[in-house]
Amino acid sequence: MSKTYGKLASRIYELDKPVGRSFGDVEFYLERLKSVAGPVLEPATGNGRMLVPLAQAGHSVSGFDLSPEMLALCKANCAQHGVEAELSEQGFTTFRYAQKFAAIVLPAGSFQLLTDVVDAMSFLRRSKEALVPNGKLLLDISVTGGFMDHAPRARHWQDGEDLLTLQEMRTATDYVKQVVTSQLRYELWRDTQLVTTEMELFSLRWWGMFELELALREAGFTQIKIFGDYQSGAVNTASADTLIFEAQ
Ligand SMILES: C[S@@+](CC[C@H](N)C(=O)[O-])C[C@H]1O[C@@H](n2cnc3c(N)ncnc32)[C@H](O)[C@@H]1O
Repeated sequence: MSKTYGKLASRIYELDKPVGRSFGDVEFYLERLKSVAGPVLEPATGNGRMLVPLAQAGHSVSGFDLSPEMLALCKANCAQHGVEAELSEQGFTTFRYAQKFAAIVLPAGSFQLLTDVVDAMSFLRRSKEALVPNGKLLLDISVTGGFMDHAPRARHWQDGEDLLTLQEMRTATDYVKQVVTSQLRYELWRDTQLVTTEMELFSLRWWGMFELELALREAGFTQIKIFGDYQSGAVNTASADTLIFEAQ
């Protein structure tokens, strides 16, 4: 059982969400960061789906991730797109930089990978410490409704001769800790033969809108804006799938 994005998981992430794939988030974050002149950090930077467009927009970017496989993809994607970034293998609760950042951006619901609230608070405080005064933290979360559907799911990708499959099955829901856990089964097939299997227990924590606002205040952020579904203006709380927090 792997706990971070392993070899097959990373390969599938790159097939499913390559540089250039946006959920509306890439354009939204680029717009929110337009007036930011200093360096930008992307924790959990993955394959560079967001980091490469940030660098292409002229930002000086740093990124960290706990998965060496994801970092290798990120490095290759930076080279392929002719951009530079400072990349390192670090974790949410231990990351450290000599410099301060003008902005920190955490897209794709990665904040919800912090399933322990103590770790989540530690990440928020660490982010505040890593920012210049008046620096911005931008992050997004899926709204709670998204966690209610837990039918098993199977997807596949063809990559040349290779068939890659992913089966997801919810194995636990902790309503008190607000954490769901799924078993992910990644497989690589070639010539009708199963080549390799990778198993992962994948957990995510859901947050209420006001709960996360209070957590950001507790971590020392004061000016907090909340957006829905990567749209400017007031959140439509009846229909929003994603909430975006901008905290200064
Ligand atoms: C959903 S992907 C997001 C990738 C990228 N930010 C994007 O927007 O496409 C989540 C990433 O978080 C990384 N990750 C998981 N746990 C982590 C941790 N504790 N510290 C740092 N990165 C972590 C994974 O390796 C993976 O690359």
